[in-house]
Amino acid sequence: MTTPCIIRGLGHCVPETRLTNADLERMVDTNDEWITSRTGIKERRIAAKGETTVSLSHQAALRALEHAGMQAEELTHILVATFTPDSYIPSSACMLAHRLGLHGRTCMDVSAACSGFLFALETARAFVCLHPEAKVLVTATDVVSSRVDYSDRGICVLFGDGAGAAIITGDTGVAPAGCGRVVDVLLATDGSVSDLLTVKGGGSGSPCKPGETVRRDFFVEMNGREVYKYAVRAMSSICKTMMEKHGLTKEQVDVFIPHQANLRIIDAVGSRLDMPAEKIFTNVHKYGNTSAASVIIALSEARSEGFIKDGDTVLLSTFGGGFTWGSALVRF
Ligand code: ACO
Repeated sequence: MTTPCIIRGLGHCVPETRLTNADLERMVDTNDEWITSRTGIKERRIAAKGETTVSLSHQAALRALEHAGMQAEELTHILVATFTPDSYIPSSACMLAHRLGLHGRTCMDVSAACSGFLFALETARAFVCLHPEAKVLVTATDVVSSRVDYSDRGICVLFGDGAGAAIITGDTGVAPAGCGRVVDVLLATDGSVSDLLTVKGGGSGSPCKPGETVRRDFFVEMNGREVYKYAVRAMSSICKTMMEKHGLTKEQVDVFIPHQANLRIIDAVGSRLDMPAEKIFTNVHKYGNTSAASVIIALSEARSEGFIKDGDTVLLSTFGGGFTWGSALVRF
């Protein structure tokens, strides 16, 4: 049994500092033509000193609360999806709750790399199912720059920092205008190919010792070609499953928001789903791959810019390290 859930408010926040392709040309052996043709990315936002997963989550959360017309005190559960928490202990969710002036709430981080938002959204749905009065803040935030080696040209051109937030509640049937109804969420994982995309350093499997210099495995390591192939297959397959499950044709999907990893993956998934380009929302050119924050920033932006209109059926899809992937169907 599932309790219908609604998205009461959306918000997002990206750092002010821009890192353009021209900036990267001065840092590593790369060029705008290579980056643009391979990824579609023109610039990304990079956290300044003091900007962290918790501080960006906080800004996104305040915007989502304002959008929902709610006060922070109303929140019952706080989730932060991230692979770049401010610290291992305490969780970013505990710190975020404190910043919001909350005490005694259920708070936890969710680890699913770039699929983090959808895994946290499904967790929020479970909380609402158990506690129909729950008002769950879901933030999905990554300061990927803290785990990028800016001398590795194969990696540093791809990623940026950002945060998105959504407030999830049960659907009492009198949802305020403009809310999105979460129709369904599908999730999947495959740990057998986990070595294709990793950040191992500092974990219990690859611990650090006092005095040791920072190792390469503290930063994102990836087999780009294999990630590309798996990501395209997995995202298109789970979207097809979602559409078949709900008897939806591509004509009945008004907006498609795939994980904003790079434009070639987005185009390849769109083409496998035979989705017209004008239905696909992209912002990867200005933010790069913001990991867990990617689809929630895109959803928040698409809604605030009017790309998503009242009555639209929106299909979301994510893919990330683990591997993890998912799809969600939301009606506005
Ligand atoms: N600038 C210039 N040349 C570069 C750069 C760069 N920034 N990076 C790599 N190259 C070079 C390589 O060294 C290689 O040179 P060589 O032929 O002399 O050895 C050449 O370009 C081709 O390298 P490939 O890695 O094979 O390039 P490819 O065409 O596969 O594109 C890319 C790389 C863009 C990373 C692609 O594999 C991809 O999109 N993968 C998906 C990965 C991804 O988006 N991961 C994000 C995390 S997971 C997720 O969110 C889905």
